[in-house]
Amino acid sequence: MIVIASDHAGVDLKARIVELIGGAGHDVRDLGPTATTSVDYPDFAHAVARAVAAGEAELGILICGTGIGMSLAANRHPHVRAALCHDAFTAEMARRHNDANVLCIGARSTGSGVAEQMVGIFLETAFEGDRHQRRIDLIEIERGN
Ligand code: RB5
Repeated sequence: MIVIASDHAGVDLKARIVELIGGAGHDVRDLGPTATTSVDYPDFAHAVARAVAAGEAELGILICGTGIGMSLAANRHPHVRAALCHDAFTAEMARRHNDANVLCIGARSTGSGVAEQMVGIFLETAFEGDRHQRRIDLIEIERGN
């Protein structure tokens, strides 16, 4: 399952992405919001991060104006590796090298076409493991996990 959420800045892009990945056959759960009324992005970042950390969702997607606030909040959770990506290359490398399990997108900094491309790549790209796993383990050691 894939969980997705945004703040008010990302509601429209989120709707497009839900349609896109749902149409592609993924099981997607939209954790909100549904309106463009101003909300606080950490509430939504934590909801997605909790689902990923608990193993309820395989991957998560978070969208705010820049993607920065979402990535900061989601990365407070154990075993969550949230990557703020800006293009196809960073989305691919976030999976291949960093085993990122949450993709963060800036709806005000990334065009919707690029964002949709990034999501497709993020969902389809596998982690390479090997030396990259060692580096991820080193991240977790610093966190005490
Ligand atoms: C909301 O105005 C904006 O601060 C938020 O969407 C995000 O960019 C925070 O990182």
